[in-house]
This record gives sequence, C-alpha cells and structure tokens, in this order.
Amino acid sequence: MQIAVVSLFPEMFDAVTAYGVTGRAVKLGLVRVSHSNPRDFTVDKHRTVDDRPYGGGPGMLMKIDPLRQAIAAAKEQVRAQARVVYLSPQGQRFDHRKAVEMAQEEALILVAGRYEGVDERLIETEVDEELSIGDYVLSGGELAAMVVIDAVTRQLPGVLGHGASAEEDSYVNGLLDCPHYTRPEAFAGRVVPDVLLSGDHEKIRRWRLKQALGRTYERRPDLLQGRVMTPEEQELLAD
Ligand code: ADE
Repeated sequence: MQIAVVSLFPEMFDAVTAYGVTGRAVKLGLVRVSHSNPRDFTVDKHRTVDDRPYGGGPGMLMKIDPLRQAIAAAKEQVRAQARVVYLSPQGQRFDHRKAVEMAQEEALILVAGRYEGVDERLIETEVDEELSIGDYVLSGGELAAMVVIDAVTRQLPGVLGHGASAEEDSYVNGLLDCPHYTRPEAFAGRVVPDVLLSGDHEKIRRWRLKQALGRTYERRPDLLQGRVMTPEEQELLAD
C-alpha cells in the first residue's frame, strides 16, 4: 500500500515509519509512506501557509493554494487512484471496521490540517472522506493520521507475524480483548488463572471468549448493542 501524507510537519511521521510493527512494514516494503508539505508550495518570502478566516474570529486557516498543490503532489507520488482522507474532529469516527476497509485500498492520501482547519471548498472539491479519531480536539491532524496509518498497516497481509495475527486483536469479533498473563505465576499476591496453565486449548479458548464478553459487557456495553451473538457466546455470557 502507498500512503502519502500531506502535512506541515512531515518529521512527526518518523514515529510510525521508524519504529515497531509499522516500522518493520515500511522496511519490508509492505507499506510506503511519502510526504508532501504545503510549505514547499508557497511563493512568498515568508513561506506563508496560513490565512485569516472570512467573517473574523480567532485563529487562522490553512492557506488554500499551498494545500491544494500539496494534495496534487501527493497524488503524483502515489500514482494510483487514491482515497483522499482529511483528518478532523468533524469527520466520521475512525474504528476497526474502517481500518479493515481502508486496508483494501491501493493508495491513501492523508491530509493533516493545522490551525483552525481548512477552507470548506477545499474539503468539498479535494477530499473523499473526513475522518475523526475521537471526540476531542488535537492540535493538528498528524497524530490522527498516524493512528490511521498504524491501524490500517496492521491489517495488511504479511505485517503481523504468526505470533500476533490481526485475527486475534481486540475488536476483531467486535469485543474487547481478554486479560493476558506472563511469568511469574504469582505476582503481587495474585496468581495466573488455573485454566491458562491447564494446557487444554479448547477450555482456554472458551475462557478467553467468556472474559472478552464479560469485559465488553461491563466496560463497553455500547459495543454489544445490535450485535448478533453466537449460541456459544450467549451461553458463556449467561453462565
Ligand atoms: N484533528 C484535530 N482533532 C482531530 C481528531 N479528533 N480526529 C482527527 N483529526 C483531528
């Protein structure tokens, strides 16, 4: 997959391209991340990238033309039919389902805004989709774009090894993850649940599913709304 990021702060993206699972995906060539900086498309001495909003009020907007040109350059970089995504608190909520869906794309262009946002006409004409990573306001779209890059990259074939398949992740079956334990067997006066030491894989699978259901019911009942439970899940939740 090719991802082109449109941002005034491209160095921030080293956080995902240089480290961990996503860094490895970049090294293996499973995902390519390029940058396009609106500042490179300014023509004035001060390389101005912001402008005042019509109607007044505090704060500035991103200047239209450098941003428009940076998006055009991003399209050139990916050389494929790319889905253009603008990160903003006004967008639809990004979630696991969205990450799986976006991982099917050949190319993505992620536009990270700064200041109070961008001109609405630029969104109308250049952007396919506006996405939010949660109901809070960040100082820019970069962190949100990195969240999207990380979550989408995990869904690409070959990115996660056998030890950490995406199928075992939280949210895959619409549930929170079960609790996990490692050595030592006793820690802080608490012991590892017996079943995990039993070697009975079927019993362990059922225990984990039950834990996942219980946690989801207690912590995020909204995730269970409208979810069709399997007979086994119904039995475990009632038990
Ligand atoms: N930019 C600023 N806040 C954001 C959010 N919550 N989601 C996506 N982009 C943003």
